[in-house]
Amino acid sequence: MESKHEYALITGASLGIGREIAKEFAQRKINTLLVALDTPELYQIQKDLREDFHIRAETYPADLTDPACAIAIHQWCKENDFVVKYLINNAGIGESGFLEDIALKRYCQMIDLNTKAYIALTHQFLPDLKKLGEAYIMNTSSMEATLPLPYKAVYTGTKNFIYAFSLALNQEVRRYGVRVSVLCPGPVLTNEEGLKRIEAQGKKARMMMLYPDQVASYAIKNLLGGRLVINPGRMNRWINRLQRLIPMHLKMRILEQMFRSYTRVSPSK
Ligand SMILES: NC(=O)c1ccc[n+]([C@@H]2O[C@H](COP(=O)([O-])OP(=O)(O)OC[C@H]3O[C@@H](n4cnc5c(N)ncnc54)[C@H](OP(=O)(O)O)[C@@H]3O)[C@@H](O)[C@H]2O)c1
Repeated sequence: MESKHEYALITGASLGIGREIAKEFAQRKINTLLVALDTPELYQIQKDLREDFHIRAETYPADLTDPACAIAIHQWCKENDFVVKYLINNAGIGESGFLEDIALKRYCQMIDLNTKAYIALTHQFLPDLKKLGEAYIMNTSSMEATLPLPYKAVYTGTKNFIYAFSLALNQEVRRYGVRVSVLCPGPVLTNEEGLKRIEAQGKKARMMMLYPDQVASYAIKNLLGGRLVINPGRMNRWINRLQRLIPMHLKMRILEQMFRSYTRVSPSK
C-alpha cells in the first residue's frame, strides 16, 4: 500500500497537545485526519499543515460525545479511501474543585469524551488496523492515571480507565502488529483552565510543566519506537518512580494537601 494513502487520525487536533501531535506527523510526511469541534482553529491547523508540510490534511468537525460519531468518522474514511494507520485518541476535558460543585452533566460529558469516545473509535477502527499488519494506537491519559488527584476525582478516574484500557488492549492486539501506547503527561500549558490550575499550584507545578510541542515530540518518537507507557518530562518520570515507594495512605494525604488549591479555581457548571 502506498504511504500517501495512509493517515494519522487525531482527535482534539485543533488545539494544545493534539495540534502539536498533528504537526509531528506532518513533519514525518504522514497525512493527517483532524477531528475536533467545529471551530476556526480546526481549519487553521489544516491550512498550516498543508502549506508548511505539503501533506494531505482533512478535517472532520464533530462533537465526540455524540455516540454516533465514531461510526460516522469510520464511514467517512471508508468513503474517501483514507487508510488510518495511526489512531490518536487525544480529545479530553477536565475540571477541578469539590466534587459536588461541578454539575453532574459536565461529569457525564467528561466521561463520554475522555473514555467512551476513545473506546468507540478504537472499536470501529481496530479490525482495519489489524489487517494492516503494522499500526499504532495512542491514547492520551495523564500522569494522574497512577497518581489519583483529590479535587479532580472524576477526571483522574477517566484517565485511570484509559491507562488500564490501553495496557490491556495492547496485550490483546500486539500479535496482530498493532501497538497501543498510553501517553501520560504531567501539567502542560495548553488552555485557560490548565493555566489557572498551574498558577494555583505555584512553583512545583511550574517545575513539572511542559509545553505542548515538547509533549508531542516526545510522544510521537516513543509511539513509533513502540513504547507502551509514554511519560514526557524527566522530572515527571522521577516523580513517577518515587511515588511508587510511598505507602498509598500517606501518598493520598500528601496529594490532598498539595492539590487543595484546586478548590480555589472556580469550576465551570
Ligand atoms: N493540558 C494538560 O495539562 C494535560 C495534562 C495531562 C493530560 N492532558 C490530556 O491531554 C489531552 C489534550 O489536552 P489539551 O490540554 O491539549 O486540551 P485542549 O488544549 O483543551 O484541546 C482539547 C482538544 O479537544 C477538542 N475537544 C474538546 N471537546 C471536544 C468534543 N466534545 N468533541 C471533539 N473534540 C473536542 C478541542 O476542540 P475545541 O477547541 O473545538 O474545543 C481541542 O481540539 C486531553 O485528553 C487531556 O485530558 C492534558
